[in-house]
Amino acid sequence: MVAFTKVLFTTLFTPATCRLLLRSQIRTLSFSSEAPGGDFSDPHYPLDIAFASAPSSVPPPALELIAARRALHKIKTFLGQEALKSLLASEIDSGHQTWHDLLTAASDDDTSSDPGTRALATVQFTAIPKDCSDAASQKFTAVNYIAWFADAAFHHTDKLWAGHPEHYGIVIGSNGDGTLGANVTEPWGGILTDAYVPALMPITGKPGGGVRKPWMKTKVEFPFQSVGEETLQDGTGRVMGHLHYAFRDVPLDGERGKTCGIEVALDIWMPSQTPEEVRDGIADHLKVEYYNWVGWAFDDIKSGAFVPA
Ligand SMILES: *[C@@H]1O[C@H](CO)[C@@H](O)[C@H](O)[C@H]1NC(C)=O
Repeated sequence: MVAFTKVLFTTLFTPATCRLLLRSQIRTLSFSSEAPGGDFSDPHYPLDIAFASAPSSVPPPALELIAARRALHKIKTFLGQEALKSLLASEIDSGHQTWHDLLTAASDDDTSSDPGTRALATVQFTAIPKDCSDAASQKFTAVNYIAWFADAAFHHTDKLWAGHPEHYGIVIGSNGDGTLGANVTEPWGGILTDAYVPALMPITGKPGGGVRKPWMKTKVEFPFQSVGEETLQDGTGRVMGHLHYAFRDVPLDGERGKTCGIEVALDIWMPSQTPEEVRDGIADHLKVEYYNWVGWAFDDIKSGAFVPA
């Protein structure tokens, strides 16, 4: 009897049927599309909480962050992107409606070299190894970071997924011609957005390469640049964002021709009248995901887990 029950269970409850059951249950759950109430922003209680006895000296918010990452990774991975997106469908729909309203209200001139009143989220940073004489650190270059990202997109999608807690969906794949296409579901400030970037095009200066919009910054000091259009994944394909990402190696002070570390300049352009909160929200998002991605790239290059060509 026990053996029979076991056979019955293992044939009925294969991973695939469990996923199906879970999905159908998720669909039948009634849930509020409103965010839960309460202010869960950084707590600054007007209290001195002193731990007289606790095994570790790590402060609670740091412990909470570690646990939150672990819990989110588990929950997100268990549910899967498809289920997450179906749970968030109504919020995604209203997010897209907001973009349509912003696009209809905008009068941005695509041909002018003047950006006009377009909203711009910009994040620029350097990432410099602490020890520049280390042979492994010298491999941490702009080209190798870009190669690491492509490798993660194809072989370690977990790293893209975990780059930001609010990646509800992220799939980056090859277009077969050396370019990458991306589907990303994430909030832009308060606007939950399901966007499709048909191609992240490297600006090569050659036919077929990416072309900077006339109103984008030139960034002459950055040899590695790419552009991409963020389109709404709601069947309209309307472009609501323009990416312009740039990378370079950082020259080493006083050492002619030598470099150590990378500098990254990320611009995302949005329709004029895009609220400041949206612009700042996507800039904060970039800060978090690039902090993680660049850090992981460095770790992988140093440890040999990623071997640049
Ligand atoms: C990405 O988006 C495009 C355009 O909407 C769609 O055709 C494609 O199936 C999507 N891919 C994934 C993996 O979601």
